[in-house]
Formats: sequence, structure tokens, C-alpha cells
Amino acid sequence: MKYVIANLKMNLVTAKECDRYLDALTQAWKVYVQSDAVKLIVCPSPFFMERFAQKLPAGILLGGQNMFWEEKGSFTGEVSPQSLQDSGVKAVICGHSERRGFLGETDEQVALKVKAAIDHAMTAIVCVGETAEEKEHDETATVIAEQIAAALDFVSEEQLERVIIAYEPRWAIGTGMTPSSEDIMQTRIVIQKMLIKKYGTEAASQAAILYGGSVNASLMDEVCIKADMSGVLVGKESLDPAELLKIIGALTASGA
Ligand code: PGA
Repeated sequence: MKYVIANLKMNLVTAKECDRYLDALTQAWKVYVQSDAVKLIVCPSPFFMERFAQKLPAGILLGGQNMFWEEKGSFTGEVSPQSLQDSGVKAVICGHSERRGFLGETDEQVALKVKAAIDHAMTAIVCVGETAEEKEHDETATVIAEQIAAALDFVSEEQLERVIIAYEPRWAIGTGMTPSSEDIMQTRIVIQKMLIKKYGTEAASQAAILYGGSVNASLMDEVCIKADMSGVLVGKESLDPAELLKIIGALTASGA
């Protein structure tokens, strides 16, 4: 299975903007030749989750951008995993670098969110990635290995199918810069080795590992297909449904 995750971030901030987007996506989706082998997951703001749940075209899955790990209680401003599940969310991004960077989200918190997602019958989309400085110091493999080990702390072998890993170098997010396909492949191998060590070859070989960071349709060959990734996590380009569909088209055309 291949995946395209559309991370709308804190864009589409009014009902009107959401509706315009949903209309455009519905139109684009109609002409897209759907493939069972590629899943599109759209992650809007939790504030408009119900709206997206009602209006997303059939065949597109609803995703969350984040959530808290406890189900309910005195956690001011947080979003409950149960609320997401109840809204029809099938997958949730855990540990996006914007949350790690701006809000100080830790590996331990990411692990709890991954567990909460799985406990609420959702797939955890686990984001890992090195900073520019870490890359410069050749620390990518170490950093990624540490983040993976921490994030999957509570995940059992049977639960691994509920996990999607997204390799998103922090320096590539929203910058227009991307790693070479060789570098992406190297990191994929690091992640796969970690998974094999913890879960064995069979379970690990099923795990989806995506690339994210400045993805657009013309880069799909380089950042996804050549690097043998299971899909992409898309920020900016996902705000234009026509571009998003081009990205999916590129993945489908690759024989996904
Ligand atoms: P970008 O964002 O595609 O705008 O670089 C990707 C992400 O943050 O996941």
C-alpha cells in the first residue's frame, strides 16, 4: 500500500476557506482515476474536522494533525484521541517537527501519542527527521534511530501495521530544499534496520516509510520513487487539490 498524506497545517482557517477547498478537491477527485493501491489521507484543523468528515469525497480518509495522549480530563486546549476517533479520523500525525520545534514536544510525548492513536483504532503517522545542524555533523542516522526507538516504545509487533513512518528532514520542510534520493534511501535503510531489530523481518517489511519535506509532483521521482519510499507527506502543495492529485498521479503511474 502507498500513501499520500495531506497535512493542511494551520491553513484553511475559516469555514469558507474549508468549503472552497473541499469543493475543489471534490472536483479534482472526480476526474482522478482511483487506484486501490494509493491511499489519500487529508489532515485538516481539528476545529473543522466534522465539516471535513461530512464533505470529503468517498475514498479519501480523514486524518488528524495532532492530539493529546489522555482520553479526557484537565488538559486545557488539548484534543482527545477519542474525539478524533469519534469524528471518523483514521490516522493521526504524531511528532511533526513543527510541534517538536515550536512547542517542545518530546520523544516521550510522541511515544504516548503513538500509543493513544493505536489504542483508539487509528494509524499513527510518526514523523522523524534531523535538523540542518545534525545533518552537517553527520548525525542523521543516530538521530533517526533514537527518534524511532523512542516513538515505538509501546508498539508491539502486532501493532506495527498501525504505524506509518514519515521521514521528514527538518531543514527540508517548507524550504524548497530536498535531500538526494540516495540520502533518502540511506535513511530508509536505517529505519528499516531498526524495525527489523525490534519486530523481525516479516513485520518490518510490511511497514510503510514515507518521505516528507518540500514535496511537489515534479519531485516525486527523486524523493519517493527512486528512493523506494511508500509515499509522501505533503504540506504546502496539498493546499492546491489539483497539485495534490498530480502527486498521487505520479505515485500511481510509478506502478504503485
Ligand atoms: P512542506 O511540509 O511540504 O510544506 O515542506 C511538509 C510537512 O511539514 O510535513
